[in-house]
Amino acid sequence: MEWLRIEGGRELRGRVSVPGAKNSCLKLMALCIMASSECTITNVPSITDVDTMCDLLRAVGAGIVRQRASVLSVDPRPIACTRLPEQLVRCMRASVQVLGPLLARFGEVQMPYPGGCPIGSRPIDLHLKGLAAMGAQFSEEHGLISGRANRLVGTEIHLDFPSVGATENLMAAACLATGTTVIRNAAREPEIVDQQNFLTRLGGQIRGAGTDTIRITGVPELGSTTYPVMPDRIQAGTYMIAAAATRGDITVTDVVPEHLEAVGSKLAESGAAVIASEDSVRVVMGDRPAPISVKSMPYPGFPTDLQAPMAALLTVGRGTSVVTENIFNNRFRYVDELSRMGAQISVDGRTAIIRGVSELTGARVAAPDLRAGAALVVAGLAARGETIIDGVEHITRGYDGLSERLASCGAHISHTVDAPEAASFDS
Ligand code: UD1
Repeated sequence: MEWLRIEGGRELRGRVSVPGAKNSCLKLMALCIMASSECTITNVPSITDVDTMCDLLRAVGAGIVRQRASVLSVDPRPIACTRLPEQLVRCMRASVQVLGPLLARFGEVQMPYPGGCPIGSRPIDLHLKGLAAMGAQFSEEHGLISGRANRLVGTEIHLDFPSVGATENLMAAACLATGTTVIRNAAREPEIVDQQNFLTRLGGQIRGAGTDTIRITGVPELGSTTYPVMPDRIQAGTYMIAAAATRGDITVTDVVPEHLEAVGSKLAESGAAVIASEDSVRVVMGDRPAPISVKSMPYPGFPTDLQAPMAALLTVGRGTSVVTENIFNNRFRYVDELSRMGAQISVDGRTAIIRGVSELTGARVAAPDLRAGAALVVAGLAARGETIIDGVEHITRGYDGLSERLASCGAHISHTVDAPEAASFDS
């Protein structure tokens, strides 16, 4: 058992450095399958999803060396198996990102349906349809997907929705296909640009990542490289929101401010001063937030992964806010937990109506998924009294040193792995 204990109601002040992005690092690790020799990834976050991806790559035979917490090497040369073990694949959604690389490199793959946060239906039809358009053949039996392709062939693919994962899988597979692939209605997330940069360093020929049309010309083989993971814009956004929720003053460093414009502009609308410099963003808040309307959208819209933390901030707003979730259909599972802390939220379909209260009060709550867990942390920091958050294993999937980073800004927070009585505050 693991939980966080927070003594809330303290202004957070200070600087927080942001580690590498979970949602890019896991994909870069999967892309290493297509390299010709060992690749080294730096700025790797210390999160359990990275450990799971290491285990998954080891399970197919890849050599993994973790030189230090933030540096790891993946050697694809010993890969001798294309069947992925169910228990690991079920641990996280990002497991599906090995599908395209394994198929492109070895012409076959067997994979159970991936797991991940229970935030709504998460089909992989766009991944499979795109790969099928490139010539792969899929069959499914007893929940196991088997794919085959003698040689993938470049083609035109129009995605029904700009899926991040599907764009990445197809872009990867197209690098080793014959001819040119064009992905239209592609996702434009910064993590996709990171994948393009990585693949280009391996010798891939890709243009257009960051726009809705990506063109990939296949090459017979890829090389190897050393590459730093881009900064985690979701962790950064969480600290920005935590600053606002505690009426504090936090500078998040080692970020790309452009990636944080959507969250920064919503925080500014709610009354925060948001000051961006070359590689940092400072958020200063002196009052309860003004009520606002937030709609999650594909990038450059407001990220769905920050919808829950933003909603937690708005629970202490000076009026009624409206939060609409447009990406996943079950992303309000934190609402009951926030209600235990005094939040006034009603949900109707994809919309949450949040009536701001003057303060939240600490309570024992449980994180139902990763980003909902982050929302409970934001609420706990803002609340009066003690909050205990169970289900911390969801949070450590994606947040690297969360309690240490927050404690360095004055939060009273401790992360405990055994009996609650043993918990003690960091400061
Ligand atoms: C990635 C991120 C996740 C983020 C999400 C949206 C990783 C590991 N996870 O997830 O943190 O919340 O992007 O920014 O990078 N869809 C289909 N069919 C498909 C694929 C997706 O219908 O084959 C739908 C999904 O159900 C969802 C929407 O498309 O409604 C967006 O999903 P997608 O962009 O693919 O998210 P992920 O890549 O799973």
